Amino acid sequence: MAQSKYTTHLGMVDILPDEVRKWQYLENLIRQEAHKFNFEEIRTPIMEQTELIVRGLGQLTDIVSKEIFAFSRGEDNYVLRPELTAPVVRAYVEHHLGQRGGSQKLFYIGPMFRAERPQKGRQRQFHQFGLEVLGSSDAVADAEVIAFMIHIYNKIGIKNTTLKINSIGDPESRDKYKEALKAHLKPNFDKLSDVSKKRFEKNPLRILDSKEEEDQPFIETAPVITDFLNDDSVNHYNKVKDYLSELGISFEEDPYLVRGMDYYTQTAFELISPDLGAQDALAGGGRYDLLVEEIGGQPTPAVGFAAGMERLLIACEELGIVLGDEKSVDVYIVTLGDAARKWGLAQLPKLRSNGISATMDYMGRSMKAQMKDANRENARFAIIVGENELKEGKFTFRNMTESEEESLTFDDILGKF
Ligand code: HAM
Repeated sequence: MAQSKYTTHLGMVDILPDEVRKWQYLENLIRQEAHKFNFEEIRTPIMEQTELIVRGLGQLTDIVSKEIFAFSRGEDNYVLRPELTAPVVRAYVEHHLGQRGGSQKLFYIGPMFRAERPQKGRQRQFHQFGLEVLGSSDAVADAEVIAFMIHIYNKIGIKNTTLKINSIGDPESRDKYKEALKAHLKPNFDKLSDVSKKRFEKNPLRILDSKEEEDQPFIETAPVITDFLNDDSVNHYNKVKDYLSELGISFEEDPYLVRGMDYYTQTAFELISPDLGAQDALAGGGRYDLLVEEIGGQPTPAVGFAAGMERLLIACEELGIVLGDEKSVDVYIVTLGDAARKWGLAQLPKLRSNGISATMDYMGRSMKAQMKDANRENARFAIIVGENELKEGKFTFRNMTESEEESLTFDDILGKF
């Protein structure tokens, strides 16, 4: 086949019709289940102000320092959203959503953009679904967010997952921990990887996330943040664990779990799958009690998570889970001759207005080729029409799976559905 002159950008993927059916199934499921949890959908623009993302996620994070797609136009600085927590918080503040009363329980589905090095499960345009609860500091909110996340994977049949949780405390506890971590790493500073050396001063917590082999001995022996938490943080963390147990959700505590954005406080969690290879995080999230204020709103505690949809689909493939149905149509009208073709065209709207999906040949093909096409389209039934059928007002109604035929009026055919 000839090579196409134009292709998608690196790490950006077309989702073709056979794939789209899986996506639609997944999106419908998420919307339906979010509704059961009493969450409302929010949709924000694909582009945000660069300043929002820099402020929200943190200047020194990998996403902001290396991975954002940003450009300016006139006076304005645009960024393709790399995630949706900061944009949702922006919308919450901009539209005073807190005034609706109670905690705001929002969910979203959509594309995100990060200029990462593409590999399996890591793209430059990828999709997330997620939840954000704004206005609650109660550990019940943390537990419900995690419960929804687990619920979606369970519902789909992805059960072989590990929920890792940690508490990274409040800024005060974290500052104390940072000092202890630096004191632990300092004697071996020269042995650390180059990336970790760079992170040492400004973002030492991220060293715990390093995959570099030379860093591992120092990470394994590092002090743990949970030893540095103040009473409030410990209480909150204990409640989260208690509520998860109450919900029958098992978890592993990982005191070295730190997340990639600076906005996190208290609870941090990730859902890991052994079926994913190197990019093994299906989903992640946590509390971000200071972000609303950081972005200019009233102090508002919040918690949320986001899940990678491509990674969910990869896990399905690995596990042999088929999402959605195959392509199919209820009725294919097979016609012979001009009059029959015209009749067929006129019946399509009647079928469709009765809730029956229907199609016919668009290429002027022979009857044999039309039957072949009806099979290819997975038609459940064919209505076969030639001159005689038109004269008699009775048509061949063929059940394509059973290979059985009847001669029926059009009204009788409608009555069959
Ligand atoms: P995150 O961990 O950066 O968190 O992303 C959440 C999930 O998105 C990851 O676990 C992964 O499945 C997927 N993901 C991230 N980057 C890529 C990529 N380049 N290609 C494919 N999938 C990817 C957040 O985005 C936070 N906003 C989550 C959150 C919500 N925290 C609080 N509320």
